[in-house]
Amino acid sequence: MILLVNGPNLNLLGEREPEVYGATTLHDIEKMVTEACAAYGRVVRAFQSNHEGAVIDFIQENRKDALGLIVNPGAFTHTSYALHDCLKSVSFPVIEVHISNVHAREEWRRQDLIAPATRGQIVGLGPAGYYYAAIWLCTQATDPVMGEYDEDGGPVEVDPNDVRVDEAPPVVGGDYEG
Ligand code: DQA
Repeated sequence: MILLVNGPNLNLLGEREPEVYGATTLHDIEKMVTEACAAYGRVVRAFQSNHEGAVIDFIQENRKDALGLIVNPGAFTHTSYALHDCLKSVSFPVIEVHISNVHAREEWRRQDLIAPATRGQIVGLGPAGYYYAAIWLCTQATDPVMGEYDEDGGPVEVDPNDVRVDEAPPVVGGDYEG
């Protein structure tokens, strides 16, 4: 099972600052990720909340069943030590996704408290970032420890040939122009 977690204000995707985030809704994204994972036989459990504690509770409650987590923490990215600690506490790989390129926006968005607690980030590729995160997790997360680090502390080697991305992500709810 793959967890898909979206933080504050991402429930308003589609109507929220469309010039920044595009026309795709959260429902579109959850459907896209669910279908992408289904092709690998993986079930997705999706969750969105505007409340920091609720996000942490959800991740904790599902920590025993999950093979991986795709998380867009929204503005918690820039503020939440508690979410950082939560992600450090789980044993499965965490991929952080941002629809917009946070590095090309306001200065305060460059502070990312979450990134050090993740396996990797996909930033600025629009909703397609969720799709690529899903494919990566489904091709890497075949058991709870894959995608972590080997006994020497180095990242587990990923053979690019093992990462199967057959086609471009489906365009969901309109193109993202960044
Ligand atoms: C975001 C970027 C954050 O800075 C912002 O607070 C969001 C969305 C993104 O997906 O681009 O809510 O995480």
